[in-house]
Amino acid sequence: MSSAAELPSPAGDPSRTGAAPADEAPATVEVGVDGRLRRAERGADEADQLDGQAGERPYPGGIPDATVARLPVYLRALYALAERGVSTVSSDELATAAGVNSAKLRKDLSHLGSYGIRGVGYDVEYLVYQVSRALGLNQNWPVVIVGAGNLGRALANYGGFVSRGFRIAAMLDSDQSLVGRELGSVVVRHVSELEEIVANSGIAIGVIAVPAPAAQAVCDRLVAAGVTSVLNFAPLVLNVPDGVDVRKVDLSIELQILAFHAQRRTAERFGQASDPAVAGA
Ligand code: NAI
Repeated sequence: MSSAAELPSPAGDPSRTGAAPADEAPATVEVGVDGRLRRAERGADEADQLDGQAGERPYPGGIPDATVARLPVYLRALYALAERGVSTVSSDELATAAGVNSAKLRKDLSHLGSYGIRGVGYDVEYLVYQVSRALGLNQNWPVVIVGAGNLGRALANYGGFVSRGFRIAAMLDSDQSLVGRELGSVVVRHVSELEEIVANSGIAIGVIAVPAPAAQAVCDRLVAAGVTSVLNFAPLVLNVPDGVDVRKVDLSIELQILAFHAQRRTAERFGQASDPAVAGA
C-alpha cells in the first residue's frame, strides 16, 4: 500500500484505464501565452470558473488549467485514503473527499487517461501515480527559499515537502547573522550566492519569503538565474516575463474570503442584515 511518503512505481498497463465514455470527452479551455501569469495566480476556486469557457486548443500536455488546479486536491485526498489502507475508491467517495462533484472529478481524471473500473472505482495507488506523474511530482524538484525569517524557517522545517516531490536545496538570506545557521535539512547561505546555487543545483522553483520591498528584485534575480516557477508569499504582485509561472500565497486573502462567507451565513440566519453586530442586536 502506498503512503504519503512513497509514490508507487509506474504500472505501465494502459488497459487498467479502460475506455473513455463518450459523454466524458475531455473539455479544453483556451490558453494564451500572455495569460500565463494571470492564470497562474488564480486559485482552484477561480479556476473552476474556467470550466465551460472551453475553446478547442488543449493545454500543453492536454490537461486543462482548471483540472491542473484541482489535481493537488485529488492527490491530497488520495494520500489520506492510502494512509487509511483504502485500495480502491469510487468516484463519488473520492469526489466527496476532495470537495468537488463526481462528474467533474471523472472528467478531470479522464484527462489523465484514468476512467476507473465500473462497479469497482479507481485503484488508489495507481491513481496516486497517475496524478503525481501529471503534476511532474515523480521526480524530486529542488527548491530554493529566499528569506530565512519566520516564514522561511517554518517552510524549511516542514517535513512534508520531501514526500510530495520537493527538496529544499538551498535557503538564502541577506542577513549575515543568519548565514551558516542550520534550518531543517539546509544551512542558510548568503543571497549573493543565488545565481551560482540555482545554476549548480538545477533549481527551477523559487520560493520568495522576503519582505515586500525586496521581493521584486529577488524575483528578477531568480528568473535571470533560470528559475521558471515562483511561489510568492510577499504581499505584492510580481512582474515576470512570459515563460515564468508565479503562484501567490496570501493567508489574509483566504481569511477575508472566509469572513465574507461567515458574514453571509450570519445574514441568512438573522434575515437580511449583513452586519453581524446589527443582526445580533
Ligand atoms: P521576516 O522579517 O521574519 O523574514 C524576512 C527575511 O528576509 C529576513 O530574514 C531578512 O533578512 C530576509 N531578507 C530581506 N531582504 C532580503 C533580500 N533582498 N534577499 C534575501 N533575504 C532578504 O518576515 P516573515 O514573517 O518571514 O515574512 C516574510 C514574507 O512573507 C513577508 O513578505 C511577509 O509579508 C510574507 N508573509 C506572507 C504570508 C502569506 O500568507 N502570504 C504569511 C506570512 C508572511
